[in-house]
Amino acid sequence: MSEEKYGLDIGTWNIRLSSLGTGTYISEKNVIAVKDKKYVIGYGDEAFEMYERAPENVEVSFPVQDSVISQIDKMQMILEYLYKKINRGKIVKNGNFLISVPTDTTEVEKRAFHELVANSRLKARSIYMVEKSVADAVGCGIDIKSPKGNFIVNIGADTTDITVISLGSIVINHKVKIAGRKFDEAIVAAVKQSEQKLIGMKTAEQLKIHLADMGEVPESSQMQIFARVMATGLPVRTSISSELVSRAVREALLPLIDLVRNTLEKTPPELSADIIENGIYLQGGSAAMSNIGGLVARETGIRVKLLKDPGNSTIRGVTTILGNSKFNSLRYIPQEKEYN
Ligand SMILES: Nc1ncnc2c1ncn2[C@@H]1O[C@H](COP(=O)(O)OP(=O)(O)OP(=O)(O)O)[C@@H](O)[C@H]1O
Ligand SMILES: [Mg+2]
Repeated sequence: MSEEKYGLDIGTWNIRLSSLGTGTYISEKNVIAVKDKKYVIGYGDEAFEMYERAPENVEVSFPVQDSVISQIDKMQMILEYLYKKINRGKIVKNGNFLISVPTDTTEVEKRAFHELVANSRLKARSIYMVEKSVADAVGCGIDIKSPKGNFIVNIGADTTDITVISLGSIVINHKVKIAGRKFDEAIVAAVKQSEQKLIGMKTAEQLKIHLADMGEVPESSQMQIFARVMATGLPVRTSISSELVSRAVREALLPLIDLVRNTLEKTPPELSADIIENGIYLQGGSAAMSNIGGLVARETGIRVKLLKDPGNSTIRGVTTILGNSKFNSLRYIPQEKEYN
């Protein structure tokens, strides 16, 4: 068991770890809860339960912001917690790691993902990195080495990656700060404006998951939630309509689709022809939204390919790359550099 292989996708909202040896993977919220600035009282999904509910002396934080590690110590603690969990309580040494890293970011920020594992108690034997969009492409089952152009849009929590890929390399990649959390913010703002009620981001996310529908004729439904009346500050049980939620999300989503269209326009014509033929691969947790594929297709004029379980596209690709040496050339180790 000294040659165990692990895949890692460290997202803004979720962290996913796979173990090739056991063929398992775990996904938890990328969150940690700390009491009185010193005592960790919860990791992952358990810590997320406390989000927006905890008393003032409990800080619930997300150590990754905009897909970049902003709090390395906390990130390390979550990683160690998850690593122990997948190894049934043990820190298995000498593991070989493959980590997906965002493309459109600085070398220092990329290197932080490597250092996160290198400086942890995991005592890794090897640590490789793979560009997130390359992993996504493999996760979609795209023949990555072919000279055909492929277009991948991964809509996560804080960021969306818009990527054109060909011959195993990234031709265009834009990391855009419009994704799931922006949709949640739009719902908070819409409830405030039209109902004069305040709701938290967690409630907004639940409304989005249950009610948001990007179809041309969305289904009409309602959801009961607790909100605070702005005028009195008192809590009330209230019903929110799918129309209100879908309209808010659609307005936040359309500027993102404009950026997708812009990227398509800037794609070299030879590759565009392939993309028109192959379609747009829509990935990331937000791609699970009802009828989002149809809206993207209508707005861009290009058909959309949606795979099952789009939130796990990156970790699926990372795990496939780990398990097959034919993909070894897609991995790399960051070069030693001096950073000032
Ligand atoms: N059924 C659904 N409908 C709409 N949105 C959803 C649904 N399921 C999950 N999401 C959203 O997907 C987002 C999480 O996606 P994902 O797990 O891809 O993000 P991440 O990898 O943690 O973040 P990032 O890649 O941006 O760093 C959240 O904003 C969540 O609300
Ligand atoms: Mg992600």
